[in-house]
Amino acid sequence: MVKVLFVCLGNICRSPMAEAVFRKKVEDKNLEDTFGIDSAGTGDWHIGKPPHQGTRDILDQNQIDYSGMKARKVKASDLQDFHYIIAMDAENLGNLNAMAQFEKTGEVARLLDFLPESDVVDVPDPYFTGNFEEVYDLVNRSCENLLSYICDRENIKKS
Ligand code: 4NP
Repeated sequence: MVKVLFVCLGNICRSPMAEAVFRKKVEDKNLEDTFGIDSAGTGDWHIGKPPHQGTRDILDQNQIDYSGMKARKVKASDLQDFHYIIAMDAENLGNLNAMAQFEKTGEVARLLDFLPESDVVDVPDPYFTGNFEEVYDLVNRSCENLLSYICDRENIKKS
């Protein structure tokens, strides 16, 4: 199983959106038995909470399931358990790299590394901007490319 973890700050806006969008793309390709998908935050303020209303609204509009999702904090063992650890912005990436300093880890990258045509390298935080549509568009396009990248690297056939 290929394990993918999406990481943001609060684990209520961006990384749960990426988790739900990526899972839908995996299911659409009948690859759900091949992937383990989760998300976590570097902060602990929202542990146990469901995704933010703005994330729920945009996922509802796009018929993407988020049932049962609850915020949790990223832990050191995640860096060994997950093969791909995908940060939403430079701050998340810095925190993950600091945690990973003395550990062997999976591949740590930023989500928008997979969207080279994007003007921005960090997924803007809609908790502060309020713009969940912009985030959905970036997440949707980059998750498509991320899935292709992982399938190519892991020799997974896309149906
Ligand atoms: P996220 O957004 O990292 O995309 O989940 C945030 C959610 C909550 C907070 C910050 C960012 N907060 O400071 O509580």
